[in-house]
Amino acid sequence: MPDLVLATPSWLGTHGLLLARLPAAVPLKTCTDVVLDAAATTRHPDGVLLTLATGALPAPGTTTPDFVLALDRLQDPGNLGTLLRTALAAGVERVWLGEGADPLQPKVLRASSGAALALPLERLTAAELRTRLAAGRAVGLQLVAAVVPEADGDALPYWDLDWRRPTALLLGNEGAGLDPELARLAERRVTIPHSPAVESLNVAAAAALLLLERSRQAHGRPGP
Ligand SMILES: C[S@@+](CC[C@H](N)C(=O)[O-])C[C@H]1O[C@@H](n2cnc3c(N)ncnc32)[C@H](O)[C@@H]1O
Repeated sequence: MPDLVLATPSWLGTHGLLLARLPAAVPLKTCTDVVLDAAATTRHPDGVLLTLATGALPAPGTTTPDFVLALDRLQDPGNLGTLLRTALAAGVERVWLGEGADPLQPKVLRASSGAALALPLERLTAAELRTRLAAGRAVGLQLVAAVVPEADGDALPYWDLDWRRPTALLLGNEGAGLDPELARLAERRVTIPHSPAVESLNVAAAAALLLLERSRQAHGRPGP
């Protein structure tokens, strides 16, 4: 639940009814455009902002997740936000962030369209991520590394994997790709085949195909 809503009178005049969706206990303060501009991190704020305590964000929980996204040193905030938005849409239950960009920084929050606040996120060191993945594997998560087409001639086309099994998908850094130690932990490697005219896809574009393949197999045509 937000701690506070700060809004300009003009925003309240046009969109005030939206606040009815918030619990009545959330305090509302009105302010001038100048104050809102100073408080917001966007250049042209819409006339409203909410503050949210980080303690109010979703906690990871203790049950074994069925679908995990593990990111290795994702550094671009736009990529991370876009990925989190897709992850939420695809039913990802946990996101393990091995180093990389801060998921709560303004650019990530905007690109994620709020998904960064709705997903249980855990920031981990490289060693912690390896430990977490190994523990997940021990309790039945299949670890799937997404690799660029030329990196591993043995990688499966992604549609040939059974995504309906409990799965952790690993995606690599924009420049360096997946850390070899992490890649070695994975029992499956998948790739999105494409023209050799490009070396790889943007990581968020690749994630959209991979993450949503699970829903396609579960609800659409039967998978492998
Ligand atoms: C921009 S790519 C990294 C390119 C890097 N030079 C490499 O060799 O891996 C970032 C990440 O996106 C994912 N990715 C990009 N293109 C992909 C593809 N065609 N198939 C599967 N994953 C892909 C991989 O996880 C990769 O580590």
